[in-house]
Amino acid sequence: MQFSLVVLPGDGIGPEVIAEGIKALQAVGKRFGHDFNLNYGLVGGVAIDEMGVALSQDTLKMCQGSDAVLLGAVGGPKWDDPKVKVRPEDGLLALRKKLRLFANLRPVKVFPVLVDGTNLKPEVIKGVDFIFVRELTGGLYFARPRRQWQTPRGRRATDTMTYSEQEIERIVRVGFELARGRRKKLVSVDKANVLESSRLWRQVAMEVGEEYPDVELEHMFVDACSMRLIQNPAYFDVVVTGNMFGDILSDEASMLAGSMGMLPSASLAGVPREGASIFGLYEPIHGSAPRRAGLNMANPVAIILSVAMMLRYSFGLAKEAQRVESAIDEVLREGYRTYDIMSQGKTKVGTKEMGDLITKKVAGS
Ligand code: IPM
Ligand code: MG
Repeated sequence: MQFSLVVLPGDGIGPEVIAEGIKALQAVGKRFGHDFNLNYGLVGGVAIDEMGVALSQDTLKMCQGSDAVLLGAVGGPKWDDPKVKVRPEDGLLALRKKLRLFANLRPVKVFPVLVDGTNLKPEVIKGVDFIFVRELTGGLYFARPRRQWQTPRGRRATDTMTYSEQEIERIVRVGFELARGRRKKLVSVDKANVLESSRLWRQVAMEVGEEYPDVELEHMFVDACSMRLIQNPAYFDVVVTGNMFGDILSDEASMLAGSMGMLPSASLAGVPREGASIFGLYEPIHGSAPRRAGLNMANPVAIILSVAMMLRYSFGLAKEAQRVESAIDEVLREGYRTYDIMSQGKTKVGTKEMGDLITKKVAGS
């Protein structure tokens, strides 16, 4: 089969990890007889340096005409001045909004061989396998008004947390659909004891829940959820929440998997269903890690797992996705580790070496 794909390496470690993701993808193509047509574009800081904007119209158009987008990371200290008008993150946020990628899926799964290697006790980590469904095009990130202004008594700034019932309904539905294919337990996270937007969130979640009597729906406050994620993470199956809460909780949850370098994500324009192909943008949850850039250190597992998610959700290639995930598992079992997941007695490797090891397994050689 033929697929067209836009590749946006971005900033910092982005280009390095992207190269490994593409390597693994090409091995899938070769082994299973698929043709991946790649078009490279600029996003983030590199786009600002080159064109003065974080995302150009041409790049956006290219993405709109493709089957999927693979993104590395954006941002870095070079563009971090809070006074500047345009920032790398604007490119990513514009992509999410313009491509209508409202559903961000962040699976948190602990590879059994890494159970001893995280900051938490092995008995707490064992069996952790859940998925965050984060609303991605609304809430505090996008709602208006948002501005900074001068008053006679000093500067003020505001952001707005608004959700419409339609926005809540469609994301909660993604949560229910995913739960249906899993352990049938959905936790909806809000702050309904304080926030009006959260009270609407909770009402709509309950209303949608009536259509899913087979799925158990539980509401949890975001502060309690952040505690429970550390206390008993195996408790969770599917977690659905708003944009800001999901951003914070998913970084916390990455530590369950040992490192930010282990977690992939899929941002989709609709409800994912087994076997169906849906447009999406795939990226690791980690950032551009500027201090690690150019050192052949970064962990490429998150991007390679993101490639697997792309195969599964946008290309309908479940068997191929499974091959990629197994390849990672096998390499970890053989004891290879990047610096971020390194532990005693294991073999430390760089970005390229890790990518090569995984690619070899994917290719079956
Ligand atoms: C993420 C990142 C982004 C976000 C940044 C880079 C804008 O932290 O994908 O979680 O806040 O959504
Ligand atoms: Mg984040």
